[in-house]
Amino acid sequence: MSTQTKKSSFSGGIGFVLAAAGSAVGLGNLWRFPTLASKYGGGLFLLVYLGLVLTFGFSLLMTDIAIGRKTGKSSLDAYKTINPKWNFLGKLTFVVPSIIITYYVVIGGWILKYIFASTTNLSAAADGNGEFFTAFTSSKAPPIFWMLIFLAITAFIVFCGVEKGIERFSKIIMPVLFVMIIGIALFVLFAKDETTGRTGWKGFLHYVTPRLTDAEGKKFTIATIMQLVLDAMSQLFFSLSVAMGIMITYGSYVKKDVDLGKSVKQIEIFDTLVAFLAGMMVVPATYIFSLETTKIMTKGGPGVIFIILPQIFEKMGAIGKIIAPLFFVMVAFAALTSSVSILEAIVGSCAETFKINRKKICLIISAIALVAAIIVCLGFTDVLGFIKVVLPNDDAITAKEASHNLLDILDYISNYLLMPIISLLTCILIGWVVKPKWVIDEVETEGVKFGRKKLYAFMIKYAAPVVMILLILQSLGAFKFLG
Ligand code: PHE
Repeated sequence: MSTQTKKSSFSGGIGFVLAAAGSAVGLGNLWRFPTLASKYGGGLFLLVYLGLVLTFGFSLLMTDIAIGRKTGKSSLDAYKTINPKWNFLGKLTFVVPSIIITYYVVIGGWILKYIFASTTNLSAAADGNGEFFTAFTSSKAPPIFWMLIFLAITAFIVFCGVEKGIERFSKIIMPVLFVMIIGIALFVLFAKDETTGRTGWKGFLHYVTPRLTDAEGKKFTIATIMQLVLDAMSQLFFSLSVAMGIMITYGSYVKKDVDLGKSVKQIEIFDTLVAFLAGMMVVPATYIFSLETTKIMTKGGPGVIFIILPQIFEKMGAIGKIIAPLFFVMVAFAALTSSVSILEAIVGSCAETFKINRKKICLIISAIALVAAIIVCLGFTDVLGFIKVVLPNDDAITAKEASHNLLDILDYISNYLLMPIISLLTCILIGWVVKPKWVIDEVETEGVKFGRKKLYAFMIKYAAPVVMILLILQSLGAFKFLG
């Protein structure tokens, strides 16, 4: 029997788009995007990001999906099918989801805890300086317990299969998530703080108006603008889940009659819209209640979701008690569809390469992930202790404190080092070794027209490799002298 007939697949275009959007929409959209927008002049960042999505985002996403569909293989085997000499790239790509899964489920567990905590005792979760959060993450058993639940749900969905698990689940979750985020964003738009008189609408204007100044009113320098573009770029490919084998794996489940150009467009729109709406929720919410929090927010990270937002929900009074759990449920949905895609990228690859039954391999990998995630959890406790290292891209302030836990370090290796390296190598392979026509032909099978093919070829051959090299240099700290 040919592998094609045995292979799992999505039922059609919509199932695929929603599953891929499920992967794309995640914590990156909800906490990183609003943070970056706050930091980099609101509307200015939005415009730059949009420009990058339509050019780079589209090209990178199309490349991954087309590689998957054309080779019919998951990431581990896809590159060697293109060219046997490029087998190493498959292996390298496989490393990324293998790293990410170990900490993504830990954060997933924190979110579940916050659904529970914000329902039962919002004021405790909303303590001013993050003591609740730190006490929780540095305790021993509770984070492991919540992580276990999150991992179990993820594993269950992957266990149920591509169509019956991932697709079916995404078809329900994604529309619900979308409605919830619109609801919360609209609510914030009409919110008002009686004491300061600040309104959500003003906060919204603060979010979308392009500015050339930071939260403290300091004017941007050329160096800041360059940082903005590079940060927007790395946000973009983290957000679209490219360069980690996920979209290759999902692409390999797409039937030949699906219009890839149209699907890529829909995934991009969905992902960017959710990021925009997340900003509409988070930026005005912090703006209404205090400018201080808007400033703190630019530091980003989990603090936004786990420390700042609970305070804001608490300030909202009675209504906040309803919005808070709803918000965390929505975040959990977003994180779940992403972690499902990460696990699937590993399971799909292993099932194919080692020719083992999917269900069996799913259980084995989940068990390994569980052990690794426990270690990541313990990285926040005094069992392992905080590891004192300075990462090459740390800014001066962080470098002084120089305290990173295991999660930060894993995140640095996967997102800041491996992803741009993989992307660069993929661009070289597609742009220069097999040539962009290899992808264009795949998009144009079954008589579909590839609208932006000239742009695509230019991006893959020239623009993307240059930017990737800049990103790698930035991750290595080469631009620190710019301040
Ligand atoms: N793309 C997801 C986001 O924006 C995150 C993600 C990372 C998903 C890694 C899968 C793998 O948050």
